[in-house]
Amino acid sequence: MTLTTPPLTDEDERLARKYELWEELPEGYREAAARIASFQALAELVGVLPFAEWVDRAPDYERKQMLVAKVQDEVGHGHVTARVAEDLGVGREQILVDFAEGRTKLLNIFHYGFESWEELGPAALLMNSSAIVQFQALDQGTYLPYARALRKIEKEESFHYHHAIDLTHQTMVRGSVAQRQRAQEAFELWLPRLLAYFGPPDSDTYQQNPMYRFGLKVKSNDTLRQEWLTKIVPVFQELGIFVDPALARFDEDRQAWDYASPDWVETKRIIKEGGPRYGDWRSKIQLSLERNGAYRDAALARAAA
Ligand SMILES: [Fe+2]
Repeated sequence: MTLTTPPLTDEDERLARKYELWEELPEGYREAAARIASFQALAELVGVLPFAEWVDRAPDYERKQMLVAKVQDEVGHGHVTARVAEDLGVGREQILVDFAEGRTKLLNIFHYGFESWEELGPAALLMNSSAIVQFQALDQGTYLPYARALRKIEKEESFHYHHAIDLTHQTMVRGSVAQRQRAQEAFELWLPRLLAYFGPPDSDTYQQNPMYRFGLKVKSNDTLRQEWLTKIVPVFQELGIFVDPALARFDEDRQAWDYASPDWVETKRIIKEGGPRYGDWRSKIQLSLERNGAYRDAALARAAA
């Protein structure tokens, strides 16, 4: 018996198609790919600011080294993704200027800072694990330079993930009752933020979004949110964090997670108007643009000569 595969439809072929920078890109594709890469570049750079301000307050030298390594990696991720965006026509300086001048919105999780050292471990663990789940889906996308950049970034995110586990473990095993309590509260504070970070529930028409039509995104918000919960909830339970079933609970019948629905109104407000630290991050970026302006101008003049 011969098995025949049905002929590829135009749609199948379009979805299977992947692109390099120098190939002819469909209309609107370049802009969409630039948007996704520049958005990530900014998220990497701003996302590290709350960690960077804890470097001076790390409780010992070893933790300080680990934190510095993480900060350095994240800035590197910003450079790598900004380079992808730059090739597509969005200059790296433009990404920062647009943010400093208030033209770019940040994802909800990047609007906050940390109130205590014990908050860093659980918050970083939630953030790193969700980034890994997101990137492992995005690296299946159709724009190959971005997919390659993500695969490089994932390796370092994996290091950060293990660092965050170690940090949380240290608090849960060697910390005082008050410290363990702060880790528990950090988990409960950040879990809903991260649930919201995956974006609104899937609409019936989400696949019409250019990111999906171009194959730059391949998995829906709800699919990723479910995958993430499957991965991360057991990790926290093993670390000794209590996961309240009202926050997240696996429904055996549906074979899916139930979770406390994020406050979408508040999430939208934060993104639109800015959360508690949004203004600080903007002025930090503005200051660094000003401070480094003279060096940037000299380097650009030299390169042009
Ligand atoms: Fe990163």
